[in-house]
Amino acid sequence: MNEVSEAVAVLRKKTKYVPEIGLILGSGLGDIAEDIAEADRIPYHLLPHFPEPTVRGHKGQFVVGMLEGATVMAMQGRYHHYEGYSLKQVAFPVTVMRALGIKKLIVTNAAGGVNTKFRPGDLMIITDHINMLGDSPLVGPNDENAGPRFPDMSAAYDPVLIDLAKRSAGSLGIGIREGTYLATSGPQYETPAEIRMMRILGADAVGMSTVPEVIAANHGGMKVLGISCITNLASGMLNKPLAHAEVIETANQVKEDFIQLVKKLIRDIEA
Ligand code: HPA
Repeated sequence: MNEVSEAVAVLRKKTKYVPEIGLILGSGLGDIAEDIAEADRIPYHLLPHFPEPTVRGHKGQFVVGMLEGATVMAMQGRYHHYEGYSLKQVAFPVTVMRALGIKKLIVTNAAGGVNTKFRPGDLMIITDHINMLGDSPLVGPNDENAGPRFPDMSAAYDPVLIDLAKRSAGSLGIGIREGTYLATSGPQYETPAEIRMMRILGADAVGMSTVPEVIAANHGGMKVLGISCITNLASGMLNKPLAHAEVIETANQVKEDFIQLVKKLIRDIEA
């Protein structure tokens, strides 16, 4: 037994559900988990090899149950590299989800808008990413059962799911952006010069999560859809400092649209 199969074995004892869709809920976006019916709530600390989350306000639990006719497994709270976890630890829950049989992953986050056309409150479908974490969750011996040594990342965000999400948003009348998400380790926000650099590199949004999980998901052959909530314009774009409180406030303001979009998307995936 390795760490993944030990965690899977305990999870199977704690829930009878066999989830088909995984959901990772970003900062301020965790409320959709409250809508999961007949849910089993499984705190990470009850599972072997899951590190303890350190950030206050991030719940750390799986919520497994029914959402819009699908069996889902949501992560309410995730691990971040800036908390001191290795990227392997950050991505571990995704490796476990994949081992449980989950083939589709919807990953969400709060992000700063780098694209000058973006406004706080915009929702952005992630079409691609840039990894500026300087590391990968796949560094180290490769588990051939989990995936190949050199996984393809040319369609890291599944084109079919991207198309579906755009149509889901359109049919709800929710305006949607598309773009490239760039991940930095944080926890400090960027300097204005770093944001100018990121814009030149082709980033539309910047954040401190998502990329490790998406790499692990691709390694395991999962289909990924990413949604960023643009909670603020990035450093230097407005004449004011960045604050975490603003990130949470904006995420709260758009969470209704966000919840409706994710629910519609799940219905459309099931259809
Ligand atoms: N930078 C990095 N991460 C973020 C931001 C930002 O401006 N906003 C929300 N998460």
